[in-house]
Amino acid sequence: MPKTIVKESVGAPATARLSEEHKLILKVIAALRAECGRVEKGTPLDQAFFQKAVAFIKGYADRFHHAKEEDLLFPELSAPGVEMHCDPRQQMLHEHDLGRGFVRGMEAALREGNPAALTENARGYCGLLEEHIYKEDNILYPMAEDALGPERSAALSERFAAVDREFADIVKEHLTFAAAASGR
Ligand SMILES: [Fe+2]
Ligand SMILES: [Fe+2]
Repeated sequence: MPKTIVKESVGAPATARLSEEHKLILKVIAALRAECGRVEKGTPLDQAFFQKAVAFIKGYADRFHHAKEEDLLFPELSAPGVEMHCDPRQQMLHEHDLGRGFVRGMEAALREGNPAALTENARGYCGLLEEHIYKEDNILYPMAEDALGPERSAALSERFAAVDREFADIVKEHLTFAAAASGR
């Protein structure tokens, strides 16, 4: 009779939650790109869509998702006993800042009613974040999980869950926007 190995469950890896959030951010990026294409072909600027997209980027991608990385995941990777063979955190932080710069550019373009500047900054943000997300999903997160180990990762996942509960109402609003945006 084959021996059954029962693994002790210590919860889901922390970064799995972050990768799920990436999927939603990528949906909004795809919608933003499509809308940029329409504007570039001469369709009048849909101010409301771009304002909501900016609100999503600031509220969900930055204050909710990037804050989990910057305030919880990254510091945990400096905890005693956690070692990574290389450290991409500074580059990731730099990219978060570059993203904020594109968002400021989008906000300025919306205020000025400048479609060319708006699509340039929006496309800059989209390209940056797609590459950023690819690097996190394929390099940083697997490296972080290796360094953390399952128990520390599960404990971090619990802390992420607490943030999810705290932001539940805001997140719900952004989920509604992301679903509507991806159906455009
Ligand atoms: Fe990030
Ligand atoms: Fe991320």
